Amino acid sequence: MERTLVIVKPDGVQRGLTGEVISRLERRGLKVVALKMMNVSRELAEQHYAVHKGKPFYDGLIDYITSSPVVVMIVEGKNAIKAVRNTVGATNPVDAAPGTIRGDFAMDIGRNIVHASDGPETAAFETSLWFSEDEICAYTRNTDTWIY
Ligand code: TYD
Repeated sequence: MERTLVIVKPDGVQRGLTGEVISRLERRGLKVVALKMMNVSRELAEQHYAVHKGKPFYDGLIDYITSSPVVVMIVEGKNAIKAVRNTVGATNPVDAAPGTIRGDFAMDIGRNIVHASDGPETAAFETSLWFSEDEICAYTRNTDTWIY
């Protein structure tokens, strides 16, 4: 089982798409094991997006992610990192396939609704950056045997 970090970004929360995002992940078979709403400090935003520091879109990205509350969660499942990325769709919503979250709900790369970790190392870094161990719930759902 893999765990990955998902953030409903400020535009997603403001547009009332939090439930839609969670619903799509849950219906696919992914399991939410940690969840909270929060305002993002500039310090946390800069740690999360450290890899993009110096890029032309960096300042705007930090302003955007700190502008309004986010809903952040850890989701778990077999190959969860790839499954979530595929459900979320391409970074630029105009390239995201219809049927993906970005392809169905977004128009602009700077307002693409969702963040999802892009690989095992990022997932490990990001889940521990946003959540402490005691905020993560390990539990078994009786639906698991119908998914795997
Ligand atoms: P990135 O990690 O490349 O994409 P993803 O969120 O799909 O993992 O980029 C992080 C965010 O930065 C991306 O969601 C939107 C923003 N961004 C821009 O605003 N302009 C750009 O040219 C790129 C590459 C990203």
